[in-house]
Amino acid sequence: MERRTSNQRDKSISYPVVNAHNEWDPLEEVIVGIVEGATVPPWEAVTPAVVHHPELLDFYRRHGGQPWSRELLDAARKDLDEFVHILEAEGVTVRRPAPYDTAKSFSTPDFESQSSCGALMPRDVLLVIGDQIIEAPMGWRSRYHENHAYKELCKEYFRQGARWVSAPRPQLSDATYKENYVPPQEGEQMRIALTEFEPLFDAADVIKCGRDLFVIQSSCCNRFGIDWLQRHLGDDYRVHEVEHFDTHPLHIDATFYPLSPGKLLINPERITKVPKVFEKGGWDILHCPQPNMPASHPMYTCSKWLSMNVLMLDEERVIVSKGEDDLIRAFKNWGFKPIVCDFYHFESIAGGFHCATLDIRRRGKLESYF
Ligand code: ARG
Repeated sequence: MERRTSNQRDKSISYPVVNAHNEWDPLEEVIVGIVEGATVPPWEAVTPAVVHHPELLDFYRRHGGQPWSRELLDAARKDLDEFVHILEAEGVTVRRPAPYDTAKSFSTPDFESQSSCGALMPRDVLLVIGDQIIEAPMGWRSRYHENHAYKELCKEYFRQGARWVSAPRPQLSDATYKENYVPPQEGEQMRIALTEFEPLFDAADVIKCGRDLFVIQSSCCNRFGIDWLQRHLGDDYRVHEVEHFDTHPLHIDATFYPLSPGKLLINPERITKVPKVFEKGGWDILHCPQPNMPASHPMYTCSKWLSMNVLMLDEERVIVSKGEDDLIRAFKNWGFKPIVCDFYHFESIAGGFHCATLDIRRRGKLESYF
């Protein structure tokens, strides 16, 4: 029987208000982060574990908790505006979080934080699995209240039928982080900054592929967090931990990305072993070409591998960062339709298209692809 691609799916079917099972069903509604209130993440235990460029650590010590410069914020906002414009022109409904008082310091019985960080990257905070929104038990102290930016949206989606839960709120006490942690060097054994004191993950440590979810351990995601997620989701899902090596592991979406049924994009410098299910399922393993971003471009938070942090609008249309010519060419050869958007300035202080978004509704249902 001929396979119906998700693009051809009957438009008259209406799906639940929150409905996302994979990265490629046709996108109908998405949350896009905001630049308002974005601050330099204040220094904390995970900072040296996740910032890819050690020469920036001094910058974080000095400027953490202060707003990003006007110049950086304006440039990032311009990129984000263009991105929103493209999404809307492609027929996607775009929703935005609410700014909150990021500059305000806060404390709990276990820690104090000089400020919050803003709401640039909804992907990190909320995990949407099917009709369910899960507030992630994030590993950052400074991002402890970032979910507040999304409360109005979550309440609205809940009233319209979505399920909405919060994972156990972590304590983030000193016992959460390894004492004297030093990031691994190339050639060493992979390690992360977290202990197994309590379950932790950022939502972006997980990527969806129908009944199979893929997750990496990172300096915001430990094994306890992965076990919590598997048990919470139950037997309808299989949560696979992906083996990888990264000196500063954080979030799976610049490392491992199932783009469409049968096509897996991997970061060839980080993936040490492709999970067996892909081999057995006969998937094409697409090696992301080296990023084209010039070495001189300032990257305060992430690595240049944000090139592969794309957003799929359906099985073919993919939003890619302008300047990534090798990847754009590769996408065409692999049968995709790239849509190019300026994003290097947003990437300087935040992340890529996948980080900046949260899929709320895609037209499709829960399936197994293996
Ligand atoms: N840690 C990755 C890198 O620097 C970037 C991942 C960002 N993803 C996200 N959802 N914020 O290469």
